Amino acid sequence: MGRLILLCGLPGAGKTTLARRLASEIPAVRLCPDEWLAHLGLDLYDEPARDRLERQLWRHAQDLLRLGQTVILEYGFWARAEREAMRLGARALGATVELRYLAVPLEELHRRLERRNAAGDAGTAPISRDLLDQWATIFEPPTPDELARYDA
Ligand SMILES: Nc1ncnc2c1ncn2[C@@H]1O[C@H](COP(=O)(O)OP(=O)(O)OP(=O)(O)O)[C@@H](O)[C@H]1O
Ligand SMILES: [Mg+2]
Repeated sequence: MGRLILLCGLPGAGKTTLARRLASEIPAVRLCPDEWLAHLGLDLYDEPARDRLERQLWRHAQDLLRLGQTVILEYGFWARAEREAMRLGARALGATVELRYLAVPLEELHRRLERRNAAGDAGTAPISRDLLDQWATIFEPPTPDELARYDA
């Protein structure tokens, strides 16, 4: 049976760091849109390209789930509706679905991103303090009632 793991959290929350660990421990296939965009030579701030890529990676994830694989999606999943679509889609394939919410205080996110911006890690783009503050107002944290709908 397939297993889908959704990593939810703002930039700097540690999704890629956790996904790398889980991918080797479980083992699982990790799908990280930022890294794909970077490898394809695309701008990480190109939103139409990101939307197309995320749709394509979701098709690929469903193929893997049908084959019984474990898939980790690092989309961030800021919107509840987006998480619901993944949950229902995976369940329709008979897969289990887990939502890992990485809740990190905004000040700590700022600190981590400042360090990561300076290091210029591969597959990342600089994220300013203003942009993070703006994104934090859009982010819809999962509620306990939402988390209860998942297998873990
Ligand atoms: N638990 C942690 N404690 C302290 N630092 C961490 C932790 N997890 C990750 N970091 C550091 O914080 C930075 C951001 O982590 P990471 O790149 O994994 O976040 P992300 O959620 O994938 O961000 P993005 O959404 O921008 O891809 C990295 O430099 C990483 O080394
Ligand atoms: Mg990441």
